[in-house]
Amino acid sequence: MVKPDLSVKIGKLKLKNPVMAASGTFGDGYGELTDIRSLGAIVAKTVTLRPRIGNPPPRVIETPSGMLNSIGLENKGVDIFLKKTLPSLKKFGTPVIASIAGDDEDEFKELAKAVGTKAAALELNLSCPNIRYGGKDRLIAQDEKGTYETVKAVRRATGLTVIAKLSPNVTDISRIAKAAEEAGADAVSLVNTFLGMAVDIEAQRPVLGNVTGGLSGPAIKPLALRMVWTVYNKVRIPVIGMGGIMDHKDALEFMLAGAAAIQVGTANFVDPGAAAATARGIEEYMKEHGIENVKGIVGKLRTG
Ligand SMILES: Cc1cc2nc3c(=O)[nH]c(=O)nc-3n(C[C@H](O)[C@H](O)[C@H](O)COP(=O)(O)O)c2cc1C
Repeated sequence: MVKPDLSVKIGKLKLKNPVMAASGTFGDGYGELTDIRSLGAIVAKTVTLRPRIGNPPPRVIETPSGMLNSIGLENKGVDIFLKKTLPSLKKFGTPVIASIAGDDEDEFKELAKAVGTKAAALELNLSCPNIRYGGKDRLIAQDEKGTYETVKAVRRATGLTVIAKLSPNVTDISRIAKAAEEAGADAVSLVNTFLGMAVDIEAQRPVLGNVTGGLSGPAIKPLALRMVWTVYNKVRIPVIGMGGIMDHKDALEFMLAGAAAIQVGTANFVDPGAAAATARGIEEYMKEHGIENVKGIVGKLRTG
């Protein structure tokens, strides 16, 4: 059979395969550890307008099947990102998606303008569980109106492909996805981490410095998969799925459930080659099953 076609289009963004590295889990030092050129895209760590020092330590702990983190969007701010981080990630030739987070719509708009056309697309982090926007006790992605207005503001400010990254910490994620779609998002990505915590029974204190953190890894896969499937059935824009994808088999589950593309996060900490291996595994599966185009997998889950 001819070489299968793994290419995917998300808005204007063309990817050679559906596998991306998830935001915050794939640094600029990864070039020596894995073949970045074999990935569809890299999503950079979320950047804010001004530098952030993040949350107090400890900020990362292992759980029996994943990890809890409360990094709190530590980053050097958009100026350094544009001068240093972005060029160092772009040198591999793989599309780099900038992930941005602001306290309100205006900051998101300002960040979108600052990035301009230097990145291949924008992922809006509306959903980091470790920070609170504008002093409010909710995330933007926990509010349909907030999601709509933020996506709309960015949509007006940029011609780049806009991906809205959603939070699983809601009752009905499909309503938030719909709000993002109506505001002009080209795609939605889900899920960010689930809120969780751990307790040190000797100290009788929370383990994380920030008390709570975001749970990721294999523990969240069935939860994330259900959300991707629910959203796929409610929106027309592409869904980018993530949450506990450790290998190509996990990735294929998400794609069958409707994900047009997927992101690999926590697995990068276990094996920096996990995302590249996932892309190879999807290609092998297509060859074994005589699937010529990767679209032949997306949403093909039979539930009847
Ligand atoms: C240490 C760590 C840092 C993260 N930082 C970010 C971030 O800066 N921006 C973001 O949108 N998501 C961030 N995430 C969330 C991941 O991109 C991803 O949505 C989540 O971990 C679920 O996927 P996974 O189970 O494959 O890791 C982070 C996750 C981890 C584990």
